[in-house]
Amino acid sequence: RPVHLKDYRPPAYLIDRVNLDISLEPTRTRVHSKLAVRANPKAVGRREPLRLDGEHLELASIAIDGRPLAKKDYKLTDTTLTLTKTPSGPFTLDITTFVNPEANKALQGIYRSNKVYCSQCEAEGFRRITYFLDRPDVLATYTVRLEADIAAAPILLANGNLLERGTLPGGSRHYAIWRDPHPKPCYLFAIVGGNLAPISSTFRTMSGRNVDLAIYVEHGKEARAAWAMDSLKRSMKWDEERFGREYDLDVFNIVAVSDFNMGAMENKGLNIFNDRLILASPETATDAIFEAIESVVAHEYFHNWTGNRITCRDWFQLCLKEGLTVYRDQEFSADERSATVQRIIDVRGLKTHQFAEDAGPLAHPVRPESYIEINNFYTATVYEKGAELVRMIATILGRDGFRQGMDLYFERHDGDAATVDEFVTCFEDASGVDLSQFKLWYSQAGTPELIANLRYDKDKKVANLEVEQILAPTPGQPSKKPMHIPIRLGLLGANGHDLDLRLDGKPLEDGVVSLTKRKQTFRFSDVPSRPVPSLLRGFSAPVNVTLDLSDEDAELLMASDSDLFNRWQAANTYAARTLVESVKALTTGKRTNQGLRFARALGSAVQDDKLEPAYRAELLKLPTQSDIARIIGKNVDPALVHRAHRQLMKLVGKTLGPLLEDLYRDMADRGPFSPDAESAGRRALRNAALTLLAARGTPTDVARLAQHYGTATNMTDRAHALFLLAGRGGTEAKVALDDFYATWEKDNVVIDTWFAAQAQSPLAGTLSRVKALIKHPLFSLTAPNKVRAVVGTFAAANPVQFNRPDGAGYAFLTDQVLALDKINPQIAARMLGTLRSWRALESGRRAKARKALQRIARAKSLSPDVQEIVLRVLEA
Ligand code: ARG
Ligand code: ZN
Repeated sequence: RPVHLKDYRPPAYLIDRVNLDISLEPTRTRVHSKLAVRANPKAVGRREPLRLDGEHLELASIAIDGRPLAKKDYKLTDTTLTLTKTPSGPFTLDITTFVNPEANKALQGIYRSNKVYCSQCEAEGFRRITYFLDRPDVLATYTVRLEADIAAAPILLANGNLLERGTLPGGSRHYAIWRDPHPKPCYLFAIVGGNLAPISSTFRTMSGRNVDLAIYVEHGKEARAAWAMDSLKRSMKWDEERFGREYDLDVFNIVAVSDFNMGAMENKGLNIFNDRLILASPETATDAIFEAIESVVAHEYFHNWTGNRITCRDWFQLCLKEGLTVYRDQEFSADERSATVQRIIDVRGLKTHQFAEDAGPLAHPVRPESYIEINNFYTATVYEKGAELVRMIATILGRDGFRQGMDLYFERHDGDAATVDEFVTCFEDASGVDLSQFKLWYSQAGTPELIANLRYDKDKKVANLEVEQILAPTPGQPSKKPMHIPIRLGLLGANGHDLDLRLDGKPLEDGVVSLTKRKQTFRFSDVPSRPVPSLLRGFSAPVNVTLDLSDEDAELLMASDSDLFNRWQAANTYAARTLVESVKALTTGKRTNQGLRFARALGSAVQDDKLEPAYRAELLKLPTQSDIARIIGKNVDPALVHRAHRQLMKLVGKTLGPLLEDLYRDMADRGPFSPDAESAGRRALRNAALTLLAARGTPTDVARLAQHYGTATNMTDRAHALFLLAGRGGTEAKVALDDFYATWEKDNVVIDTWFAAQAQSPLAGTLSRVKALIKHPLFSLTAPNKVRAVVGTFAAANPVQFNRPDGAGYAFLTDQVLALDKINPQIAARMLGTLRSWRALESGRRAKARKALQRIARAKSLSPDVQEIVLRVLEA
């Protein structure tokens, strides 16, 4: 059943035009499709029967050029409809199918969320609407007529521009006709029908066209869509200014729905969003959510050019649109906010999610070579590592060279279903730089490890930086070729200032060197004294670096690296090293003093009030327990990691007490709430201080925490305190949780914070609590946000309780995965992925996790989604 990249063949048939007539009914929606079909001139000589994809469909009729087909003229299976005889010239194919939106809990195809009809077609959901060539290299123009009860669905939306609407005889039903002039693959098709309220605005494009913008939300929630609208307009402007990209339809609609498998979807002119990524007000949303809304709204909007105008030839090219669009949304956020803080947040996320994926059995190349279920490849590797690959191209070519390559890509491939190779070729052609070795990044999985060594020759005044790249095996890739790795670097003199760089006698202006061999030495001349190297500035490549730095050197970088990203990186590496040492100390019973030294160095770095608050907040955040587990890599005891983590938090809290108390006082909000980056940064710093103070656990600290909850005027502060309190337990926790529940019980989005805060608590009773939560009336296995808030949070963000030594956490997850698989295989597979690092656990837990995985592997009639994940997780 696996599909392979090497087997790609152009389609034997093309579909140029699609006319859909969809009559929406809760359990029996009729879909009539009229297709203009012809043989693909690029596949001549391949006279094949026309084989259409279709799943979970009831076929009512088929006709070719108006003549109904008899049973013997076609062959029907669970997944295909094959026409045995088709005309040799172009023809019209009419197909009528019925689907059941109400019963559709997989949330692919047409389904109902909160009574709203909506659709999700990427990757292969269109085949759940009608029989079609469901592949991204078949591009057609669509005209869509929607019909529904006026009472149930006063709003009817589809891709493109509205042509016509009207009421039907009898007066209870109405229709709308939408036309999208831009040829698109069927995965970008979308419809919405429901009783929703819009907020509207307009945007004037750079060429002076007016675009009508609307965001549709639940009635009464209109005010909460204002931030998303603001983000949309800023995104549209930014894409014009930064990339010269203008919007290309008269309308742009966004719809927020409650039940959605992912974050959002870039359907042409009709983006559909998970409502948690649209709705925000100071009372209901944290700063992190405001930030996420801004970035996802931008992401989906940017897809209009990188994804829609230029789409993917096949699903192996997914990173062509996703990696590039993540890069674009990250650049947008960097321009809208603090670029350094944005980079820190992005790199933190990359390491936590993608590095962990790359280090385990689910590791795969940014451009995978085979898959069983494509939905399993919407991963941190394709998205976030994919974005790093684009960023490395920008680093290698420089800002202007990169822009020229992008311009060429848009010019050459507009309207195409393109490949990663074609994308990279544009940068080679625009710049003349050979990127053939660089392209290994797309095909070789795993995080490269750089071993760096600096030798200083005091007589010659030469610093030799030796760097070796180690490429560990990953599933299916036992050995690897050396990669082209751009390393941005600096050398710090004794006073902490950057030295001028001369590489092989020539000035190195941009500070970027290219590592292309397995082992390479970079020779820097005219270096007056032994320098401290600052490597991988701005995180110029997604790699791990090992460099033996003394505590003094690490402290110099932390205090004075001119590259603020690396200043943070130095602090983070120092913290990680300290934590790994104290886990070791807990294992062996030895003692270590590293913690105190680290705490003091951290204090002097954070003290610098010339640094912006958001940045200082990032300094104060220690690496997570899962980061430490990943760094330790094998025989991990999550209980010890948790203990070491708590101890260090407490030590930092005690050592820096007065500083943290000052910050807590000084960073209090000065005026009315504003979601802007600067105000959010002050709240972040204040909450980071609160976290460390609370770790001390004195009665004063606990009282401060409870008061922080009680007096909070916004959700950032309230949710922060709620998580900390829920993690401590006691009366204060109960009071806060009950209050939160009473306040937000009716709010389907906000209540997820109440679920997640309990699921994340490291207290011993958490598993029983979680088991009670999935029985709670507000919980449902059919609602992905609820599953993620409870099961996802417990399995992915609560290492100590999920990894209980008795294996009960794994058994719970197994039960949930098996139950979910019958409802929503995509979500089931995601939840199962949380077990991917099981082989890195100490032997007792490892055995328990293996048993849980085997129980899933043995279960009958698993979905391809779960089957693929369980096989890969167990096998590698
Ligand atoms: N293209 C969407 C985005 O990243 C993601 C949709 C993926 N959905 C899925 N079922 N695999 O913006
Ligand atoms: Zn995307």
